[in-house]
Amino acid sequence: MLELGVLISGRGSNLMAILDAIDAGTLDARVRLVISNKKKAAGLAKAAERGIPTLAISHREHPTREAFDAALVAALREVGVDWVVLAGFMRIVTPVFLQAFPNRVVNIHPSLLPAFPGVDAQAQAVAYGVKVTGCTVHLVNEGVDTGPIIAQSTVPVEEGDDRDALADRLIVEEHRLLVEALGLVAAGRLEVVEHGARARVAIRPLP
Ligand code: GAR
Repeated sequence: MLELGVLISGRGSNLMAILDAIDAGTLDARVRLVISNKKKAAGLAKAAERGIPTLAISHREHPTREAFDAALVAALREVGVDWVVLAGFMRIVTPVFLQAFPNRVVNIHPSLLPAFPGVDAQAQAVAYGVKVTGCTVHLVNEGVDTGPIIAQSTVPVEEGDDRDALADRLIVEEHRLLVEALGLVAAGRLEVVEHGARARVAIRPLP
């Protein structure tokens, strides 16, 4: 069983999708701890209501990114987390964090990477005028949204969409894709392979 830690900064709907899949028996995992860098994140209260252990660790109370990441790592290790999901976690993690969970940190991003990395990918897609966008689940590396891709799914941009209309369509697909990708992780089907200068993820076939 996957022992998950989930890091959030806000609403936590992707976290809820993970908890729903676990409760429905469609994802073989357990959420050991939810951490938010923002005490008031709605997702933190929602997780606590569902009986999941939660912690608020403010980045503002740590002098450096590395010190903040070391505090996250200590809390996650203490409860036996072996995979970490960044589910709307709006902080960049440092090598301190990545070396503690090598190739075991997963991020959900609301665009078809490598298009529109970074902040507010939905607004970037609307501003650019693309007709199709989507979401990506990937392993986190030291770049911003540059890690090996596990799964992607497309979502159309409709005529007249603003940022929020597109985000509302995307989030439904994000929930589905994140659970699907974590299912691949739980089934041990991910393999990180070197491919030229970059690592990529190969999905092992079902036995
Ligand atoms: C989601 O759309 C997620 O893809 C995005 O934040 C939102 C969090 O929603 N993440 C990023 O933009 C990371 N760069 P949620 O709190 O309801 O899961």
